[in-house]
Amino acid sequence: MLSDEERIEIEAEIAVYAQKHSACIDALKVVQRHRGWVSDDALDDLSGVLDMTPAELDSVATFYNLIFRQPVGRHVILVCDSVSCWLLDYETLLDHLRSRLGIALGETTADGRFTLLPSVCLGACDRAPVMMVDEDLHVDLTPEKIDQILGKYE
Ligand code: FES
Repeated sequence: MLSDEERIEIEAEIAVYAQKHSACIDALKVVQRHRGWVSDDALDDLSGVLDMTPAELDSVATFYNLIFRQPVGRHVILVCDSVSCWLLDYETLLDHLRSRLGIALGETTADGRFTLLPSVCLGACDRAPVMMVDEDLHVDLTPEKIDQILGKYE
């Protein structure tokens, strides 16, 4: 069930558009901001508010890789595996991340601190290799730089 706060924020997003379903991505982001991810129950509730079927809304939610349909850690690391990053030692950096965090791609650390996910190009190819942690872009990565970055996130 959507909270009152979520409903108010979602209604504000809907008011911007001519049709309710046009606010679907913004509404999904509202739910994710409050809960960390979008559960099946939340998606069902939200589809009713947006005059969409759950299947329609799920197809939108699963298309965008920044909408999480499973629980994630407090911080989500997106590692770019597209061509520029791949050419500039992506595999070494991924090995370092996996080793430091003790998890594979798609997994969350036991303490719930980090989830490690692959990503297509993050739009900073000239600064490859690149990763994002939550909303922050980190460029020109090295194993040492990754260690410093991870230390900034509790
Ligand atoms: S290929 Fe990695 S940022 Fe573009």
